[in-house]
Amino acid sequence: MNMEKNKQSNSILAGKFILLGITGGIAAYKAAELCRLFIKAGASVRVIMTPAAKEFISPLTLQTLSKHQVYDDLFAGTKRYTVEHVELTKAADLFVVAPATANTISKIAGGIADNLLMTTMLAARCPVLLAPAMNTQMYQHPALLENLRKLRAWGYHQVGPAIGELACGDTGAGKMAPVEEIFAAAGRILRQNSSWQGLKVLITAGPTREAIDPIRFITNHSSGKMGYALAEAALERGASVTLVSGPTNLEPPRGADLIRVNTAQQMYEAVLEHFDDAHIVIKTAAVADYRPAVRQKEKIKKGESLTLELVPNPDILATLGKRKKQQILIGFAAETNNLEQNALRKLKQKNLDFIVANNVTQEGAGFNTDTNQVQIFFAGGDSKCLELMSKKELAGCLLQEVDLLLKERNTTGS
Ligand code: C5P
Repeated sequence: MNMEKNKQSNSILAGKFILLGITGGIAAYKAAELCRLFIKAGASVRVIMTPAAKEFISPLTLQTLSKHQVYDDLFAGTKRYTVEHVELTKAADLFVVAPATANTISKIAGGIADNLLMTTMLAARCPVLLAPAMNTQMYQHPALLENLRKLRAWGYHQVGPAIGELACGDTGAGKMAPVEEIFAAAGRILRQNSSWQGLKVLITAGPTREAIDPIRFITNHSSGKMGYALAEAALERGASVTLVSGPTNLEPPRGADLIRVNTAQQMYEAVLEHFDDAHIVIKTAAVADYRPAVRQKEKIKKGESLTLELVPNPDILATLGKRKKQQILIGFAAETNNLEQNALRKLKQKNLDFIVANNVTQEGAGFNTDTNQVQIFFAGGDSKCLELMSKKELAGCLLQEVDLLLKERNTTGS
């Protein structure tokens, strides 16, 4: 293959810091060539080997190629007064594990941290690319396939395995992808990530709470999971993210500028404050449409009956639609009936670039689930029906749609 061409097409690697994890499979010797390709493309590489990997290839080979010591000892840090696995991940732009054995893949899926590669993996917040390599029977084991599925759903990238003759003599799927393919996949991931650098993304998530009295409030079933998944996906792509969140029990995405609010009015104020600067605005929040006309100062006492007067909250998205300039504006529509009709009306009324609609009565879709099944309606008239998938995967798909809009704008200059 033509290395020069490869180097040029992956110049994105220049100046990048790559962690290369090598695990104990026969394909470990090919990691040396991969390391050489990364170095040749201008990347800085640090190699981490598992104890088993050192049985297959000498650390000295990787040390010579990477021009740095090879990291392999979980406890070496205690001698040097640094916490290696944390230090390494802070600097990394990409973590490539090639070969990734069934053992290491399953340990990642299980969150096990019993060697330096695994502790580094658990601490890592950069994108991870796995190049599985193993015997066909091992690759086809349901546990391994399930673990790979789980990792992909969490946002891990995978390249290969290829089909071919394996070291054990069997022929089938399980061969590590050719190093040139792994190298190209690394370039693609870095390119995708850097394309969002400098972009400001404003996301709203979760429900709002509208107080009736000091004890009670009106709210809805929104968990915030979709908005938080979108925030994580945008951060992974290198964007700076402001997340305006109603009350949720979720761990805030690392690196996001989190603004916690309770009421629709507070969300309105926080969003408007950040709107003018934003490039992309995604409103996943399930904002309460009404609030009590009066918030009672004292607890309302039990009685025969109670009539609450409700007044409408401001429609934040509709306001943004009117103020919109350069922003890509995306709304969500949770519906129980007439999905298409309602989504298209909101798309137009709120001046959106696209709207993500789902039927919340459908199994596995909508509020408080880990999965969602949606239809996307675009301002240009197109629509897309996506299959049931995890909210994390859906976040990736939605940001891909945003990517396409950004590219369209760049080519038309609008
Ligand atoms: O009109 P509807 O509430 O169904 O529209 C849903 C979309 O509008 C969501 O993106 C939601 O975040 C947004 N919305 C809003 N302010 C409201 C109500 C909804 O921004 N008061």
